[in-house]
Amino acid sequence: MTTKKTVLVVGASRGLGLALAEEYCGRGWQVIATSRGQSFGLKQLQERYPETLEIETVDVVDLRSVKALHSRLEDHTLDVLFVNAGICKANELTPVEVEEKDFLDMMLTNALSPMRIIEVFQDSVVESGVIAVMSSEIGSIGNCLGFWELYSSSKAALNMLMAAFAARNKEDTRALLLVAPGWVRTEMGGPEAELEISDSIPLVVDMVERNAGKPGLRFTDRHGQILPW
Ligand SMILES: NC(=O)c1ccc[n+]([C@@H]2O[C@H](COP(=O)([O-])OP(=O)(O)OC[C@H]3O[C@@H](n4cnc5c(N)ncnc54)[C@H](OP(=O)(O)O)[C@@H]3O)[C@@H](O)[C@H]2O)c1
Repeated sequence: MTTKKTVLVVGASRGLGLALAEEYCGRGWQVIATSRGQSFGLKQLQERYPETLEIETVDVVDLRSVKALHSRLEDHTLDVLFVNAGICKANELTPVEVEEKDFLDMMLTNALSPMRIIEVFQDSVVESGVIAVMSSEIGSIGNCLGFWELYSSSKAALNMLMAAFAARNKEDTRALLLVAPGWVRTEMGGPEAELEISDSIPLVVDMVERNAGKPGLRFTDRHGQILPW
């Protein structure tokens, strides 16, 4: 029987999710990392950590696929569930300019689907564990500057759904985290972003580890600073 801690990272094919999987592998955790297709990055990581990294498949917008993953993992107990998958489309556009489908895709992938995963997997997370989902600094309504407004609104919707989940589950002993990783140079963040992945993800994982055993809902940046809703 393993005494290692276990994390499930959903949406780990590349970018911040792949870096999360790598960081947890490096810290000696048992890691289950998902992609929706083949991920060269995850395959390479598995070559480095063959005993540690398990690769799974899920498309987060497909509830049947989420439930099938849950069934495949029913023997696993999770110390951390980290839902990272997200998309950004039409980031510079306004409500009159955007294709409706692009907006709806963001709401589905960034807001509804992460919460469905949390609902489906919540019983797999230990009582002192952490349920984390990747939100964003620009999902804060209080700090709104109008940047990437359509994408931002999908993260604000995610925050509301997580707050509703917390309100419905007042006795929940797990930490419920909406994580703002900073503006990071990935395919989504783009080359102008302020941070390298290595400036963000180790701090995110430190912050998540510090939250273990601390029940309650928090919208927090990578340093553990609480952000305004
Ligand atoms: N980069 C930033 O500055 C920044 C800032 C704040 C928040 N975030 C958030 O951080 C998370 C990761 O962002 P990133 O910068 O790493 O973006 P990225 O490089 O574009 O990676 C996005 C990840 O989400 C996965 N994904 C998207 N739709 C999916 C679906 N339907 N099913 C399964 N996986 C799906 C992608 O998988 P595929 O390879 O299959 O597409 C990929 O692994 C997102 O939630 C994003 O909103 C990023």
